Amino acid sequence: MGKITGEYLTFNDVVIVPGYSRVEPSNVDITGKASKRVILPIPMLSSPMDTVTEHRMAIILARFGALGVIHRNMSIDEQVEEVWRVKKANPSLWAELPRVDSPEALEDLLLRLEELGSQAAIVFHGGAPVGVYLALGADPDYWAGKANALVTLLSSVNPAPVTDELGRLMVGAAISPFDHERAVRLEKAGADLLVVDVAHLHNENAVTALKKLSSKISVDLVAGNIGTREAALDLLSRIENIAGLRVGISSGSICSTGEVAGAAVPTLQAVLNTVEALKELGLHGKVPVIADGGIRTPGDAAKAIIAGASSVMVGRFLAGSEEAPGAKVRVGGKVYKAYRGMGSRGARERRYALDRYSKPSKAIEEGVEGLVPYTGSALVKIMEMATGLQAALGYAGASSIEEAWAKGRLARITPIGSREVSPHDVLLG
Ligand code: IMP
Repeated sequence: MGKITGEYLTFNDVVIVPGYSRVEPSNVDITGKASKRVILPIPMLSSPMDTVTEHRMAIILARFGALGVIHRNMSIDEQVEEVWRVKKANPSLWAELPRVDSPEALEDLLLRLEELGSQAAIVFHGGAPVGVYLALGADPDYWAGKANALVTLLSSVNPAPVTDELGRLMVGAAISPFDHERAVRLEKAGADLLVVDVAHLHNENAVTALKKLSSKISVDLVAGNIGTREAALDLLSRIENIAGLRVGISSGSICSTGEVAGAAVPTLQAVLNTVEALKELGLHGKVPVIADGGIRTPGDAAKAIIAGASSVMVGRFLAGSEEAPGAKVRVGGKVYKAYRGMGSRGARERRYALDRYSKPSKAIEEGVEGLVPYTGSALVKIMEMATGLQAALGYAGASSIEEAWAKGRLARITPIGSREVSPHDVLLG
């Protein structure tokens, strides 16, 4: 007979306990890890989903210190091509928004602006940004938003591109444990991280297949998704070269697994569970944990980090960005972008998602399709995550992720109380 076992905590159930801090938020170092060898100045990965990550998203993330994971809802050739496009991109963050080092140099830049693929530039004087140049016809909302985000990032986080040993931008790619050819081809193409992309990896066939796959590649391999201590112990004991764990089941904003199948390990709890296993093995901090699903704000990301994660993976947070695949949609005067689960009907209709959620034994849809508000350049969201994480870790009294693990504390809050700690009792515009 089954039994009730424990109680699971979600992001909304806890708050960060303020701790004594010796540093200002803008001096908090948020450097984290996606895997053993992939170090991220901004500890954020984008979800491998066909409405979130193709080369454009991966390029802008890597230019500023985060990482894109190319989805696998396409042929191997197409996914390889996406990886190449990232590898061929100019790694400089100034390729996003060129800089001019004095107002006098502006004239020279104007001639090159189009060639640089930009309609704006940031003008510096004496090392400090003094303004933004917008070309005639440039969309001021988009470009000014992007420029402001860049200036804010520069003043606190000091962003830097994440690059491989050849100086090219880093990129991750999603794989299936059963598709060994895809994994081998992606590694050859230069992918820096292969991220297993199945809803429930702790399954005999999947683990056996992944073990075989792991012996064929030498690039960092992130295994997931898992949510329990047992799954982490099992994977780490059976597969030698796991370089990271992707954890969280059913917390995703577009996920309906919890509803249709009744199964879940909410992301915060999944981090707590896997970190417990890693501590038992003496591997916490050595095998990074990526908290995946349901992260709406930098505060949620900070809670996952305090619980022991080394980085976070986000879908919805970036799905409204210009750089996410898909066109903008106008509904009733507002602008949106499509966002859908990889187990949703639309995504499953694209043939290559089939083995994620729809093996013959699993004919059910586990994701929804919808719209999210358009949020302009992803740079705005990168800046929001970076500066928000600094603020949150600052409250926790931590000056780095390692310190957040050691000193950070979370406290449970009642369901009624969780409403009090969000904006309330005013008409929100
Ligand atoms: P979000 O950041 O809350 O939008 O969650 C994104 C995460 O949801 C992804 O990284 C996946 O782990 C997960 N996910 C993506 N597609 C589906 C789906 O169709 N069903 C359930 N989970 C999904």
